[in-house]
Amino acid sequence: MRLMHVVGARPNYMKAAAVMRAARAASAEQVLVHTGQHYGERMSDVFFADLDLPPPDHQLGVGSGTHAQQTARVMLALEPVILRERPDWVVVVGDVNSTAAAALTAAKLGVRVAHVEAGLRSFDRTMPEELNRVVTDQLADLLLTPSPDGDAHLRAEGRPASAIRRVGNVMIDMLDAHLARARALDVARRHGLARRGYAVATLHRPGNVDRPASLGRLLGMLAEVAARLPVVFPVHPRTRAAIDRLGAGTPGGVRLVDALGYLEFVGLLDGARVALTDSGGVQEEASVLGVPCLTLRDNTERPITVSEGTNTLIGADGAGLAPALARALARDDFAPRRPELWDGHAAERVVAALAAV
Ligand code: UD1
Repeated sequence: MRLMHVVGARPNYMKAAAVMRAARAASAEQVLVHTGQHYGERMSDVFFADLDLPPPDHQLGVGSGTHAQQTARVMLALEPVILRERPDWVVVVGDVNSTAAAALTAAKLGVRVAHVEAGLRSFDRTMPEELNRVVTDQLADLLLTPSPDGDAHLRAEGRPASAIRRVGNVMIDMLDAHLARARALDVARRHGLARRGYAVATLHRPGNVDRPASLGRLLGMLAEVAARLPVVFPVHPRTRAAIDRLGAGTPGGVRLVDALGYLEFVGLLDGARVALTDSGGVQEEASVLGVPCLTLRDNTERPITVSEGTNTLIGADGAGLAPALARALARDDFAPRRPELWDGHAAERVVAALAAV
């Protein structure tokens, strides 16, 4: 079995690393392609080192751009690579522009596509990721879902049951594999913070950070939290640029730090009292680590984290912040929650499904 894995952006790396590890154990031939959507030390290189990913066999170097530019550049650069490498499967993960572009390129060449993390839906088509999910799931031959809601959405969109396999969450495979190393870094102490004595915040969704009014409102919410406990805020480059454009400085008590690598971020999240985020992956990781998560969005494509009780949607307007924060800070008995099949072995099931089709 010859697999081509395509990664492009930060949240892809952990998922591909999990699948590659399991495929290596099953002696599959593997080719890794990095589209270059994310690049540089902090958005790419550190993750390859942290996750023991091999250097990409092909670096497409597409870089930043508009959605059409990024998608088109991935397609143009990937087509000859697929033709040359002739994989049995192109494996795509998540919902970034590189995911949809790679799925479309492979499908048009008649190469089978497997989508890891299939079926998630926010039902909010203003999110670029939602469009990427819908397109990728229509094209993929094998739909590997993390949770039952994924299966239900795919069936409702007319995908055949025979193409859908529930495998669990490959991101959690990597969390389990790397948590001890992440804890050993003692990230909180290096920031002078006590375990469970601080909040961690991340923000990068265009809908949240690109409009000054919305970014200003969200920074105001972080200030509200910082009145109760220190807030550490590793800043994505998109958000850093937006904060600079806003020119309002940062609220007192909110510590902006550069974007972190995987191990450092997991270490920081693991020690936090509460997480505030608009990321999808952080909602899942917080659940499994037992850190209450307050999601700064109106919707989530990870509703299972809400039904498990570890995640609260507080809305982009922050309407739900005060009560949810009070609830999170009043308790110190948040138990880690693991939905079914989030057991550290999801990638093995991905590889078994690929080998069986
Ligand atoms: C992308 C994904 C998003 C994912 C996020 C994780 C899409 C549509 N969005 O959003 O789903 O949650 O990655 O981080 O695919 N930049 C850098 N260095 C980089 C990459 C980007 O400085 O390595 C800056 C550039 O100014 C760029 C901007 O960040 O224009 C946005 O990058 P882009 O890849 O377009 O989207 P993200 O916001 O990172």
